[in-house]
Amino acid sequence: MSSRVLGINAAFHDPAAALVCDGRIVAAAEEERFSRRKHGKEPVPFSAWELPQQSARWCLEHAGLAASDLDAVAYSYDPALALVGSDDPLAERWEGLRTLFAQRAPLFLGTALPGLDPARVRFVAHHRAHAASAYASAPFDSCAVLTLDGRGESTSQFAGHVRNGRLEVLHEQRLPHSLGLVYEELTAHLGFQRASDEYKVMALSSYGEPRWLGQMRETMRATGDGGFVAQPLDWSAFAPALGKGAEWNSRHADLATSVQRALEEVVLELAGWLYERTGERRLALAGGVALNCVCNSRLWRDGPFDEVWVQPAAGDAGTALGAAQYVAAELGDHIEPMRTAAVGRGFDGPELEDWLRTAAIAYEHPDDVAEEAADIIARDGVVAWFDGRAEFGPRALGHRSLLADPRHPANLERLNDVKGREQFRPVAPMVLTERAAEIFSGGPIPSPYMLFTHQVAPDWRERIPAVVHVDGTARIQTIDAEREPAVARMLRAFERRTGVPVVVNTSLNTAGRPIVDDPRDALECFGSAPVDALVMGPFIVRRPTSAAALDQRSGAGIAA
Ligand SMILES: [Fe+2]
Repeated sequence: MSSRVLGINAAFHDPAAALVCDGRIVAAAEEERFSRRKHGKEPVPFSAWELPQQSARWCLEHAGLAASDLDAVAYSYDPALALVGSDDPLAERWEGLRTLFAQRAPLFLGTALPGLDPARVRFVAHHRAHAASAYASAPFDSCAVLTLDGRGESTSQFAGHVRNGRLEVLHEQRLPHSLGLVYEELTAHLGFQRASDEYKVMALSSYGEPRWLGQMRETMRATGDGGFVAQPLDWSAFAPALGKGAEWNSRHADLATSVQRALEEVVLELAGWLYERTGERRLALAGGVALNCVCNSRLWRDGPFDEVWVQPAAGDAGTALGAAQYVAAELGDHIEPMRTAAVGRGFDGPELEDWLRTAAIAYEHPDDVAEEAADIIARDGVVAWFDGRAEFGPRALGHRSLLADPRHPANLERLNDVKGREQFRPVAPMVLTERAAEIFSGGPIPSPYMLFTHQVAPDWRERIPAVVHVDGTARIQTIDAEREPAVARMLRAFERRTGVPVVVNTSLNTAGRPIVDDPRDALECFGSAPVDALVMGPFIVRRPTSAAALDQRSGAGIAA
């Protein structure tokens, strides 16, 4: 079978679309990158009607397809599996509205994508979609698969065994027990945005002691049958609730640490059970909890599996991809593994030059833009780097990045200021794959998707202080020179100038905005943020007022 399947995630949060043709990932993108509304929509039941229209249309346009060319549309939520009683649209907390909107999704999609036959829309259970995004994308023929999130229709976890594309279901944890929802509740208690800012809690957990781990173990624990119990606690008994942006204290950090450790322990037990049941040495992982890179590293270090592959779009956006892969497999296609997360929008040289001309901005076309960027970074400048196709998932992996010198501790503050982020949050290093083991340990290498944390070697901590978290770790991205030649040249050029084969990489966006996606976003970001240069494909735009500041900074900086 040669199928064309469009995947849609719309039920909860992070609406996204993905296109899988002949079993190959052709395009995938989150709606927020088009609408410029962070996370695409509110994570509430009454927003379930909002579809990823722009990203879906782009997927089709990218492949030169009309909606009528699609063999199927895979929607990553099955209303037939919704919580019992929730088919009443007036049910408490509007859960019934989600069910109703999901039931009507074929009609909505037929309107959003003219020419689509609503009968081609298939519902895929939410956790099947998460699971497929992991096992079908991973480079494994056979593996164990585990998904963990806040919730799907009526479950929050899925454990299975995949052998040559055939999926056996081993366990599904029913609500209300949910590791993801416990973490979400804590996120909200600490003054952050639920279903969005969980990684801030993870970052905060590095600052505390697990002094309430005993209590947490009582309320979050594996049950020995592949599942667990996990229900939110009265967090106020441990630390008072925080408003948005309020100062946290050691009690808040200790609470974050206690919950993080308890989560890790449950995940380790679930992985142990799955290992025993499947006998597999490889694990594929997805669901929002799989974005917890501290937990992933603990699983990699202390868990039974030799290899752990995590879907880079492990959150709900990734279910658009997984649903499409799941249905494509049902239609008889062999699913090809994911080779890169860069499956979003891309722009060629002439297109980029048109944008630069339209902006009437001075730009250069140097022999090698990577050398120019490295030179600016080595002189303690910040470079906005826009090149190639946008990444699918929440991480910028060198195509939509802000790059800086890791040798200056002040660069953490500088980048967090550009992005309006809390100062306790770390920025991450990128490093050539072949150099990574000299500096980083305790996590998998290569680690191309920034989904694990590594220990920084003690003699390197003072050399690259901007990327070392308070606990001596760093969330690294390894760069494969064959796959990412321009980024690799930039890293090598930076090392020639400084002796350091590491550069700071954080996503290219300003406070509260989604990651830059198209050239206009890049130019707007450059125009509004204090960065020294913008690389757009083979071109570079320098901020005229930066030259003197760079001379001053590099004069006062660290000698190579
Ligand atoms: Fe999910």
